[in-house]
Amino acid sequence: MSDWLWWRDGVVYQIYPRSFQDANGDGVGDLEGIRQRLDHLAWLGVDAIWLSPCFPSPMADFGYDVADYCDIDPLFGTLADFDRLLADAHTRNIKVVLDWVPNHTSDRHGWFVESRASRDNAKRDWYVWRDAKPDGSMPNNWTSMFGGPAWEPDDTTGQLYLHSFLKEQPDLNWRNPELVEAMHDVLRFWLDRGVDGFRIDVIHRIAKDAALRDNPPAPGSLYTWGNQRHDHDENHPDIHAELRALRAITDSYRERMLVGEIGLPPKEVATYYGDGDELHLGFNFAFLHCPWDAARFRTEIERFERLLPPGAWPDFVLSNHDVPRHASRYGQPAGREAPGPPGHQTGREAPGPPGHQTGGDARARLAAMMLLTLRGTPFLYYGEEIGMRNVPVPEDRLQDPLARTLHPSLSRDPERTPMCWNATPNAGFTTAATPWLPIGPQPPRTDVATQREDRASLLWLYKNLLALRRNHDSLHRGSYRSLDAPEGVLTYERRSNSEIARVALNFSDQPRNISLGSGRITHQLHTNASAAVATSADLRLGPCEGVVLILTT
Ligand code: GLC
Repeated sequence: MSDWLWWRDGVVYQIYPRSFQDANGDGVGDLEGIRQRLDHLAWLGVDAIWLSPCFPSPMADFGYDVADYCDIDPLFGTLADFDRLLADAHTRNIKVVLDWVPNHTSDRHGWFVESRASRDNAKRDWYVWRDAKPDGSMPNNWTSMFGGPAWEPDDTTGQLYLHSFLKEQPDLNWRNPELVEAMHDVLRFWLDRGVDGFRIDVIHRIAKDAALRDNPPAPGSLYTWGNQRHDHDENHPDIHAELRALRAITDSYRERMLVGEIGLPPKEVATYYGDGDELHLGFNFAFLHCPWDAARFRTEIERFERLLPPGAWPDFVLSNHDVPRHASRYGQPAGREAPGPPGHQTGREAPGPPGHQTGGDARARLAAMMLLTLRGTPFLYYGEEIGMRNVPVPEDRLQDPLARTLHPSLSRDPERTPMCWNATPNAGFTTAATPWLPIGPQPPRTDVATQREDRASLLWLYKNLLALRRNHDSLHRGSYRSLDAPEGVLTYERRSNSEIARVALNFSDQPRNISLGSGRITHQLHTNASAAVATSADLRLGPCEGVVLILTT
């Protein structure tokens, strides 16, 4: 495959560094831990890893408050550890994507320390400072996404600074050319080191209304953020010129990639691809809010295909560090594998008999088959390959600032718990007595070691789907077309010059008869490892079962 392009044809795997592997026994994951686990990722067959932020940070927002863009936090290791991880990943043909947070820094970043020191400091204008209104009220009505007003008074100079998130995360001023140049240098620093791309945090917020006009009110939400229309504090047209400049920098290196987090509806996300001169990919979060419904998934898939400008490449995401894991969101249909009893610890149970389907329920299997057979780069979230669920975190162990600033029920900790590598009490994640977040409970056999022993496991389904996607250009590059299907079933075709892949996914809880047309079946993969081998494209799929057929034309 001479024209293989990793970020288009491959699969990206997101790692939350605090929770992947702890190599130094302090209860928190680190870069050396990730390096030690690269063989798992190579075995699985992913093409790239995206690391959530690992830069020096006071961890007010667990790394999304960066105190130095060009170093590694000692909690995670050193720059030398990073270089070793990068080199070892590259040896295995795995690309490395960093998480770049351009909208804000930590309030401990040297730039902000200078900026807040005096009104005439050279870096004053690198952040957004304003006087209070004559009546003492805030400069405008903007609110923080993490609760309360977006302005924080600062005693040193008597002005207020803007923060879209925590008050410990002051917003940078992208209207200041020196700041823009400094941020470009940050990209070059990592690109020169060999980093393959960036996931860009909340890129839709880097430019705001220059006059800082009030947002129109839109009452009705429990939280201040939802009580206004964000007309003036996000999605400003000036962002697109900034993106073109970022793209020009990455394009001056070979095969580098920018994927942006854009917290806006798909119609707006599509505009962040520009004319092929802005982002390579804009995260398509449609599935994060999609109910378990074949018709709704079809609508979302077709919508993104339709909205993207010509030549733009889609992507799909089922889980990430900000939303409940999809294995928890979609739960499980009645009568399927029950989770362990309350209080059950991860993987304590012996593996099931050969042929028994371990890890994840039928819905996790079907979702995996969909994600890995669509036209568009799949983004996996660590642990989804073994069916990890959200872990309930007791209130006295909550870490996420959202639990404090908004409500404990909004904590993102449950989807950020440690990776489960084996069936020991700390799941092979750490030797520390207490990991930073609890390991379980998880359903029985939710760990890598157990599932690797079982060819019928969810882990093997992921591995087999990744291999099928890689080996068939219909699946990694082919066109997409929805097919007619019985109610509750999603069927589609992926077509390249040489072959056709047809996929049928039964989202319903009833068996369904499906016809996937004609053609000679050369390869097939079922979600259910014990399903009968299909001899024709007329099939009967059990509840929550799916199949991929590769057919010759
Ligand atoms: C993004 C990140 C989220 C973080 C926020 C503020 O949405 O994904 O985890 O809290 O930005 O940086």
